[in-house]
Amino acid sequence: MSNFKFSTLAMKMKSSIIRELLKSTNLPNVISFGGGVPDPGTFPREILAKIASEVISDEYQVSLQYGQTEGDPLLREAYLDMMKNGEGISGLTLDNIMITVGSQSALDLVSKVLLDSDSIYFISKPAYLGAASAFSVRSDHHEYMELTETGIDTDALEKRLVELKDEGVIHKVKFVYVVPNFHNPAGVTLSLEKREKLLELAEEYDFGIIEDDPYGDLRFEGEPIEPIFKLGDKERVLLLRTFSKILSPGMRLGFVIGNERLLQKLTLAKQSADLCSPTLTQRIAARFIMKHDFSDHLKPTIALYKEKKDLMLSELKKRFADLPGVSWTKPTGGLFVWLTLPEGFDTLEMMDLAKEKGVLFIPGESFSIDGCCNSSMRLSFCLPPHDKIIEGVRRLRETVQEYGKRRGLL
Ligand SMILES: Cc1ncc(COP(=O)(O)O)c(C=O)c1O
Repeated sequence: MSNFKFSTLAMKMKSSIIRELLKSTNLPNVISFGGGVPDPGTFPREILAKIASEVISDEYQVSLQYGQTEGDPLLREAYLDMMKNGEGISGLTLDNIMITVGSQSALDLVSKVLLDSDSIYFISKPAYLGAASAFSVRSDHHEYMELTETGIDTDALEKRLVELKDEGVIHKVKFVYVVPNFHNPAGVTLSLEKREKLLELAEEYDFGIIEDDPYGDLRFEGEPIEPIFKLGDKERVLLLRTFSKILSPGMRLGFVIGNERLLQKLTLAKQSADLCSPTLTQRIAARFIMKHDFSDHLKPTIALYKEKKDLMLSELKKRFADLPGVSWTKPTGGLFVWLTLPEGFDTLEMMDLAKEKGVLFIPGESFSIDGCCNSSMRLSFCLPPHDKIIEGVRRLRETVQEYGKRRGLL
């Protein structure tokens, strides 16, 4: 109980199953396929330790001081250089980039700056929970987009936009939110054709695109697809990137790239949220990317995750192939496998049994604002060591077997 009178916004906030589960990640004997938590072995800790020491000793006047709300100019410049040299995205200045406390805070700022209580926004089903919760506290008017093997269903999106136009509310559509590469949780990647179609729709119906891309750099196979931001322009697309999955989530560094005026508004919103992102980790990251080839740094990380992904897929095949009606995605990048059990299975309900068996996953139901995907679950293969992946999938099969028997489904 509290004597404080909560705001409407606070009353809409829900506790996240993922956050709760993360608390159990370190329990002894529990194997967690839960949070998208990077393998700490991928953190370049010796290099970072050396840089941190230098940055604190030699650059303390910046690294231990308050910084600009927009972010450390050195890091912003270095990141823009990386985008130019690595992805051919040019023509951007320091006014087009700001640093946030991870992408999550960027999503919160976007929500603050773009959404009113009657605004409409589009989000996939299933969706990244952090985005769903950042947006849904401000507006109840979400529209879902179904996911296919090639990302959001742009035909259905177009149909719905036509309907909203006919209803006279198209001006209320603020943005379409997409995770273009190796979607969290579904693992799918938005095809080039659909990226182009989305841009056409954004022009025709006058809305923005929030391109949230934490996983694009973690590609195991195939050629990268051009970012929507590059195919379109900064007037229509806001690109969110993060170092969480490719350097260190503890450094809490997100990058927001977009139109100057929009960034000015986001900066104002950030001022009232946290004044500035931590100057120490920003300067460490700036020195890291200035001194090291980022794609070389990523090679062992990608190799490790590919190995773990292959292992999880082969174990799933070994343990689940005999179970009719079970399917799972075969990701070519990112950190997640999306597994769907036959109709009737409720993965949220199955959680208790899974915990007893010593294995954790995220139930599908948590990836939507108002429920979906009850028979699915997200499995992250990034954190557990190889032997635990093997044992975890074995425990998962045992859980499914026992739950299915109890419920009369098997
Ligand atoms: C799609 C997506 N966006 C944003 C984030 C937030 O990442 P961070 O705040 O660590 O940068 C995540 C984290 O898992 C994510 O999956």
